[in-house]
Amino acid sequence: MRIVLMGPPGAGKGTQAKRLVERFGMDHLSSGDILRAERASGSKLGRQLAGYMDAGKLVPDEIVVEIMAKAIADGNAQRGLLLDGFPRTVMQAQALDRQLERAGKPLEVVVVITASPGAIVERITGRRSCPKCGKAYHVKFIPPDRKGLCDSCGAKLVQRDDDTEPVVSKRLDAYIAQTRPVIEYYRRRGKLKMVEVDGDKPPDDVTADLVEALQAFCAHV
Ligand code: AP5
Repeated sequence: MRIVLMGPPGAGKGTQAKRLVERFGMDHLSSGDILRAERASGSKLGRQLAGYMDAGKLVPDEIVVEIMAKAIADGNAQRGLLLDGFPRTVMQAQALDRQLERAGKPLEVVVVITASPGAIVERITGRRSCPKCGKAYHVKFIPPDRKGLCDSCGAKLVQRDDDTEPVVSKRLDAYIAQTRPVIEYYRRRGKLKMVEVDGDKPPDDVTADLVEALQAFCAHV
């Protein structure tokens, strides 16, 4: 399966992507994780990215498209693909369509996880993650066994620089203005299975809804 996973910040894309990959075994590419890794490398490009990301703005299309095109080309197309956080503009969606169609592996499914604005702010400001193994937590909804420490590797959990309330509201504005039109682009494009799930439900219920929809898709192809 080749899937795009969309939704506002904090809808649960990263959380659900990891679970879907465990279940279906496809490659998972998160544009946010890839951009954060570039930042962490301390490169000139990484410093440029930080300015956009910490302000809650989208990174310019030409930069993201180039980085993601390389990551997709380097991946294992046979295993399938789950794109999380990319594309986020119509221009990015068009570039992705061109790349996948050239490779004879067009996109098949677009999943949208919805979430209400109140849930988004609470989830994002409470999110913590492990800098060592990447495991994600929430101080209230998915707390670690020992406060502030990763269950898997014991490292001290950290908060993302862009997970503050003022930046979340900018990220939400960017989602509404620039990313929501991508859903309409895919609806009009046709030949795609469109799936929408309610991300306000508890994490396990969201996973169950997603698995059911994707299994139904697999049974029909
Ligand atoms: P990115 O990293 O993609 O951030 P985002 O889209 O804002 O999404 P998040 O990672 O914040 O949320 P999520 O939906 O993955 O939620 P999660 O599962 O973690 O992008 C960051 C920045 O990079 C952008 O602002 C931009 O600058 C740049 N960027 C990235 N891609 C780009 C692109 N294509 N073009 C241009 N710029 C780009 O869950 C959140 C929290 O809630 C967690 O603590 C989790 O434990 C908890 N949780 C999850 N599900 C539930 C649930 N059902 N109930 C209760 N709690 C839950």
